Formats: sequence, structure tokens, C-alpha cells
Amino acid sequence: MSTLSSNISSNIGDAQSRVSGQALELAVVVPTFKESSNVEPLLGLLETALQGIDYEVIFVDDDSPDGTAEVVRRISADHPRVRVLQRIGRRGLSSACIEGMLATAAPYIAVMDADLQHDERILPTMLETLKRGQLDLVIGTRNVEGGSKGEFAKSRVVLSDLGAMLSRRVCKVTLSDPMSGFFLLDRRFFGEVAHHLSGLGFKILVDLVASSKRPVRFDEVPYHFRNRQSGESKLDVNVMIEYASLLLDKLVGHLVPVRFLLFALVGTAGLLLHLAVLGALRWQAGAGFVAAQAAATVVAMTFNFLLNNVVTFRDRRLRGWKIVPGLLSFYVACSLGALANVSLAQLLIQTGFSWVTAGATGMMVSSVWNYGVSAIFTWRRSRPIPL
Ligand code: GDD
Ligand code: MN
Repeated sequence: MSTLSSNISSNIGDAQSRVSGQALELAVVVPTFKESSNVEPLLGLLETALQGIDYEVIFVDDDSPDGTAEVVRRISADHPRVRVLQRIGRRGLSSACIEGMLATAAPYIAVMDADLQHDERILPTMLETLKRGQLDLVIGTRNVEGGSKGEFAKSRVVLSDLGAMLSRRVCKVTLSDPMSGFFLLDRRFFGEVAHHLSGLGFKILVDLVASSKRPVRFDEVPYHFRNRQSGESKLDVNVMIEYASLLLDKLVGHLVPVRFLLFALVGTAGLLLHLAVLGALRWQAGAGFVAAQAAATVVAMTFNFLLNNVVTFRDRRLRGWKIVPGLLSFYVACSLGALANVSLAQLLIQTGFSWVTAGATGMMVSSVWNYGVSAIFTWRRSRPIPL
């Protein structure tokens, strides 16, 4: 054995005996965004609940402005069970969970929220159930006998049920609570699906189950969803858009990138608006065709820009004064796209193609052009990806 590897193994031996002497069994992955006041209470509850189990807790924090990562780091200095993974310039509950799960060597991995809404006392039962049944996954559920959504607002119950219904289209099995963010899995199962995950949005459980090539072997353990004591929920319209993106990705992502699909949907809405404005200006306001067409074009392009900014490129959204150069570059990209569209269509017509083929081809080429150019110039990534 080389000096280096013998050093490593003796160090690993030390680290292990510092923890407990037995092998690491369970990792609890906790995604956090602005949860500084919940870290200590959660660790206390986990300590009580997980007695007799060798576990570690990995907080995956997206650089919360309230210093959550720093709070965890301070604790982890003398608590080897606790670790923090701080991500800078990134957001997303699912991708945080995925990176946390990838960062552990434990054979069993649990995922739970930091805000104390998930009942940590069922973790040992979940672990037992998984091992006994040699399952892939055990889910904490609010929707079977013995579980409940607690004081969930009515509107959230409706949303949660709607989300669950939609998820059945992409999952090969029927889960009673697919919206749950509280589950425990076997790392072999995670290894099987890890490369197929979308990592979009909030609903990591749907992502895991829908990414499996075979029906997942799972069981469910009921619990009562508690109320959030401190900090605030991040559920907003964003979460819904991201959930729609996840479902789209699972349904057609292998054929077309979801971002392009969203871009095309926004473009279609823009086209309808264009026609409405054109019609109104021509026949209601009596404007000449060229003036009306020019005005409708500007309105539609601006509308497309704003909608793409909050939907298609939400993760790279431009804010404040950056909207101005963004909008201008979008105008330029789209104008060049329109020019290419018209020239190509004209050429096709001259070559003898029908107006439908010519028009549709022109549209398609300009959509791909607009998408590519605006992804590169308008909604540029803040940091280039190293090649
Ligand atoms: N790293 C990271 N990045 N963590 C995040 C992010 C993010 O962008 N957004 C939210 N979190 C963390 C929160 O700090 C919390 O620990 C957990 O993810 C859940 O966020 P909440 O904002 O508390 O979500 P919720 O209570 O509305 O939703 C819960 O219930 C849903 C079912 O109705 C979560 O458990 C969801 O996972 C669950 O699907
Ligand atoms: Mn919550």
C-alpha cells in the first residue's frame, strides 16, 4: 500500500470512530433556503428520533441571505454528523436534493424539509419498512389513514390534488402523495435513476419515480403535516411553472428540450396577440396596414420578451435596468429572425413549394433562430459554463 493510501485509510478510521464506530447507515438530506432559525431545532429533533442509527445530516443551501449555510457550518465544526453544501448562483429544491444525495456514501438516504413540517419521528419506521421489504423507496404520506395535511389552506389542498393528478401521467405507479417532499430511498435505486433526473423545480419525488425505467417498489408511512413555525413557505407561481416544466420534460423531454417548447408556446401566444392588435388597429382605429402591422409587431415582441423573461428563462430572469438592453437585444434577434423567415419563405415559393410549406418552414427556422440567439445574447448565463 502506498504511503498516501495508508494515510487516507488511517484518517478515515479516525473519522469513523469519532462518529460512532459503526458504519454510516442513513443520510438525511435537507434542502434549505432562508431557514437559519430552523437548523438547530431540526438537528435536536433528529438526534432524538434517530437514536441507535448512525446517520449524517447534509444541508444543501442555496446561499440564503439569512446566513443559513454559516449557521450549519458553525455547528458542523464540532458535530461530525452535520455537513453543509453551499451553492452559489443556483436555486432549486429538486437539484439541491439531488446534489445532497450525490454527496453521501450512506446506503440509505432520506430527504426532508428544514421547516419542521415533516414528522421526523417516522424516519426509523420508514427505514425499517424499506429494509424489511427490500424496497426502493418509502414515502411519508399525508393522504392515507393515519396521515393528514394539517391546517393546509383550502387553495393549497386543491393545488396539491391537481398536481398529484397530473403526476399520474408520468409515474408508472400510483402514489398516494406524489407531492410529498419527505421520503427515504435505497441508494442503489438512486444510482439507477440519477442520470435520468430532470432536476427541475420542487417536486423531486415525481422526478425520481418518473425517471425509473421500471415500476418502483415502494411503500408509504402516514404522518401529520405540521404547521411551519418559523420562516416562510417558498411555494409561489414559480413552483407551478416549474412543475409544469418537469411534467413536460418527463413527457416529451427526450424529443424536444422543454425550454424550446415553452419558447414556442410563448411565441404562439404572441402570434395571437399580434393578430388581435393588427385587427383592432385596422378595423377599429382605421389605421393603414403598414402602420398597424408595425405596431402589432412591437407589441407582440414586447409581450413575448416579458413572458419569456418570467416563464421560459425564469432561472436567468432579467430584473431592473437589465431589462432595457435585454429587450433591445430581443428586438434585434427577432427582427433578424423575421427577415430570415420572409426571405426563406419567398425563396421556397419561387422554387415551387406551396404557400403552406413555405410559410411553415419560414416560421420554424425563425423560431429556432430566435430561441438560439436570445438564449445566447438576451438571457445569457451569468457565468459561462467551463468547457
Ligand atoms: N436549497 C434550496 N433551494 N432549498 C429550497 C429552495 C431552493 O430554491 N426552495 C425551498 N427550499 C427548501 C425550504 O427551505 C424548505 O426546507 C423546503 O425546501 C420546502 O420548502 P417550503 O417553502 O417549506 O415548501 P412548502 O412547505 O410549500 O412545500 C412542502 O410541501 C410540499 C407538499 O405540499 C415541501 O415539502 C415540498 O417538498 C412538498 O412537495
Ligand atoms: Mn414547508
